[in-house]
Amino acid sequence: MKTEKRKILVTSALPYANGSIHLGHLVEYIQTDIWVRFQKLRGNECYYVCADDTHGTPIMLRAEQESITPEQLIERVQTEHLADFSGFNIDFDNYYSTHTPENRELSEGIYRNLREAGLIESRMTEHYYDPEKEMFLPDRYIKGECPKCHARDQYGDGCETCSATYHTTDLINPYSAVSGATPIRKETEHFFFKLSECIDFLRDWMKTGNHGQSPLPAESVNKLEEWFEAGLRDWEISRDAPYFGFEIPDAPGKYFYVWLDAPVGYMASFKKLCEREGLNFDDWWKSGSDTELIHFIGKDILSFHALFWPATLHYAGYRTPQKICVHGFLTVNGQKMSKSRGTFITARSYLDHIQPEYLRYYFAAKLNDRVEDIDLNLEDFVARVNSNLIGKYINIASRSAGFISKRFDGKLSAGLPDAELKLISNLQNEADNIASLYEQRQFSEAVKLIMALADTANEYINDTKPWELAKQEGQDQRLQELCSTNINLFRLLSLYLKPILPELIAQVEGFLNIEPLVWSDNQSLLLGHTINKYKHLAKRIENTQVEAMLEKNKADLAAHASTTEQSPTRHADQQASQHPPIADTISIDDFAKIDLRIARIVKAEHVEGADKLLQLTLDIDDADGNTRNVFAGIKSAYTPEQLEGKLTVMVANLAPRKMRFGLSEGMVLAAGPGGKDLWILSPDDGAQAGMKVK
Ligand code: MSP
Ligand code: ZN
Repeated sequence: MKTEKRKILVTSALPYANGSIHLGHLVEYIQTDIWVRFQKLRGNECYYVCADDTHGTPIMLRAEQESITPEQLIERVQTEHLADFSGFNIDFDNYYSTHTPENRELSEGIYRNLREAGLIESRMTEHYYDPEKEMFLPDRYIKGECPKCHARDQYGDGCETCSATYHTTDLINPYSAVSGATPIRKETEHFFFKLSECIDFLRDWMKTGNHGQSPLPAESVNKLEEWFEAGLRDWEISRDAPYFGFEIPDAPGKYFYVWLDAPVGYMASFKKLCEREGLNFDDWWKSGSDTELIHFIGKDILSFHALFWPATLHYAGYRTPQKICVHGFLTVNGQKMSKSRGTFITARSYLDHIQPEYLRYYFAAKLNDRVEDIDLNLEDFVARVNSNLIGKYINIASRSAGFISKRFDGKLSAGLPDAELKLISNLQNEADNIASLYEQRQFSEAVKLIMALADTANEYINDTKPWELAKQEGQDQRLQELCSTNINLFRLLSLYLKPILPELIAQVEGFLNIEPLVWSDNQSLLLGHTINKYKHLAKRIENTQVEAMLEKNKADLAAHASTTEQSPTRHADQQASQHPPIADTISIDDFAKIDLRIARIVKAEHVEGADKLLQLTLDIDDADGNTRNVFAGIKSAYTPEQLEGKLTVMVANLAPRKMRFGLSEGMVLAAGPGGKDLWILSPDDGAQAGMKVK
C-alpha cells in the first residue's frame, strides 16, 4: 500500500445557473464525490471544488424574462443547486460562482498572459444580429423552417422532426427566438485565441500529459485525433454587449465568452478555499506543480477541457490537468431523458420521494472508467437496491445484532476461533483490490466484488444458523462468536461501501459505536467491544415511491415547462428558453382588484359563425340574481354538453366587452398551451370556495 500522501484537487463541471439539477447531472457529481471520498478515506490530501456557471446570453435573457437582475437569478439558482447537492450528500470543499472577484481577476490575468504570448488576435467577423432586440444572437437563438422537411420552428443546427443536420444559414425564413424579428448578418470585431498555433503542444500533451501518461481515456484520445485531423480553428473568446459576464480589459463593450471564464471558475473556487484554509494557491496551480489536478466531465464538453483549457493554462503559465475523467450520458429506461416521457427527472423530484443514497448506490453499480452512457432502468433500480443493498448487506447486521444486544448486553466476543478469523481475513485481503478499483473509477467492479463478499458472509450465516443455536442450551459462547463474526464482516463491508454510502455508513458507525472508519481500519477487528442496540438502518424501496416521483416530476415539468428548459441534447452554446417573456409585474394591489368568482355553467351553446367561441351562461350567485353572458374561446377543447352543470372560475369584474356576437360580461379562466390541450379551471366543490351549489 502506498503510504505517501497525495495532494489532489478534483473538480466537477460547473452546472449552468439557469437550470435545475437533474439525474443526468448527478451521474457526474455522484461519481466525483465517490472518488473524492475514497481519496479522503485513504488519508490523501484531497479537495473537491465546484461552482455555478453563471455567465452568458441565456442567463441574461432568463433574468430579463423573470424581471429580475442576473445577479438575483444566479443567487437563487445557486441556493437551489446547493440544496440539491447536499441532498445527495455531495460534499464540496468549496462551492462558488463564476461571477466573483477571484474569477474576474484570474480570467483577466490569463487573458493578459495569452495576449503577451502573442496568442490573442482581433478580427472582423459576421454574426447574427436581432435588429429589434438590438443584440447579437448565438446561433442557438435563431429558428426557422427546416430546409429539408419544412417543419417550422427548428433550430439552426438540425431538425427535430426529420433529424436533418445543416447550418443556421440554411434555415428558411429564419427568425430570432428572442423577439421574432428576422435576424440580419452584421459585422463586428472579436478576439480570438490562436488555438491553431497550439496544436503541437496539444498533441504532445494528449499523449504524455505532465507525467508521461495520457491524461485522457482512450476513446477521448481518438476523438482528439479526429479533431487534429480536421485541423483546429482559432477560438472566438469575446462577445458583444449586452452580455452577462466580464468585460474584457481595454475593450469596452466586449465581454469574455462564457467558456473562457467558466473553467477558470475551478481556479477561483479553489482560490477561495485557499483563503479559508490557509493553502498556497500557487503550489497547486503554477506550472511544474507536483500536485494532481483532476477534472470530471461529461463527454459533451470534451473539446473545452481537452483542447481550449490545457492550451489556455499552458500558455498562460499554469500547470495542466493531470487527468480528465470523461463519462457518458444518462439514459432512463434505455432512452434519452425526455420531458414528454416524464423521464427528465430533477434532483428535487427524486429527493422528495426516494432515499438519496440508493441512487448513489445504483450509479456506482453501473459506473466505470469508460466514456459509455449509463442507463437508469427504474425496475432494475428498485430490484438491485432491495436485493443487494438491503437483502445482502443490511441483512447481515439485522440477522446478528439482536442476539448481541439481548443475550450479551451488546458485547462482542473478546476473541474468535481460527475458522472465523480466516473468513474475516478473506474480506480483509480484498481491501487493496477494492481500493484499486475505486482508484481507477471501476466502481461497478468494486460494487460487484463487495457484493460477492456479502454473499460469502450470508452463506456463513445460513450455514451456521445462529437463530437455531440461540434456542439450544449451553451454546452461548458459540452464538456470541458467530454473531461477532458477522458484525466484523458487516463492519468491513461498511468500510468498503463508505465512499458510496456516506450517510448510511455514518449510521452504521453509530450502531457499531465506533469512530468514523478510515481505509486503514480494514486490518483491525472489533473484539471485546460493546455495540449499540440495532435500529433499523435502511428500508426497501417500494414501487409506489418511484411512481410518486414520476408523477410529481411530470406535474413539475408541466408547470415549469418553460423555466427548466434545457434539453439533454447539448450544444456548445447554452440554449434559448422557449417560453414567452413574463409580462411586467403588477402590484398586490393591482391583483386584489381582480374579483375571482366560482361560477356554475348553467348553459353552454355554439355560436353561429364563430370557430373558437362558446357562449356560456354563468351563475355566480350574484345578489341581483342575474346570470352572466360570457363568450369563451374554448370550443377546441370542449363540447357544450361537457360544460353544462360544471363549476369554473371567472373574472367577474372585467369590464363588459362588445363582441361581434354580443356582449361578453367577464372571462372564464383556463390553462394549457391551447387547442385540445386547454382546461377550464374547474373547482370540484363550489361550496368550499364560498358558494352554495344549487
Ligand atoms: N456549464 C457547463 C460546464 C462548464 S465547466 C467549466 C455545462 N454545464 S451543464 O449544467 O450543462 O452540465 C454540467 C455537467 O453535467 C457536464 O459535465 C455535463 O456533461 C453533465 N451532464 C449534463 N447532462 C447530463 C446527462 N444527461 N448525463 C450525464 N451527464 C450530463 O456543461
Ligand atoms: Zn426537417
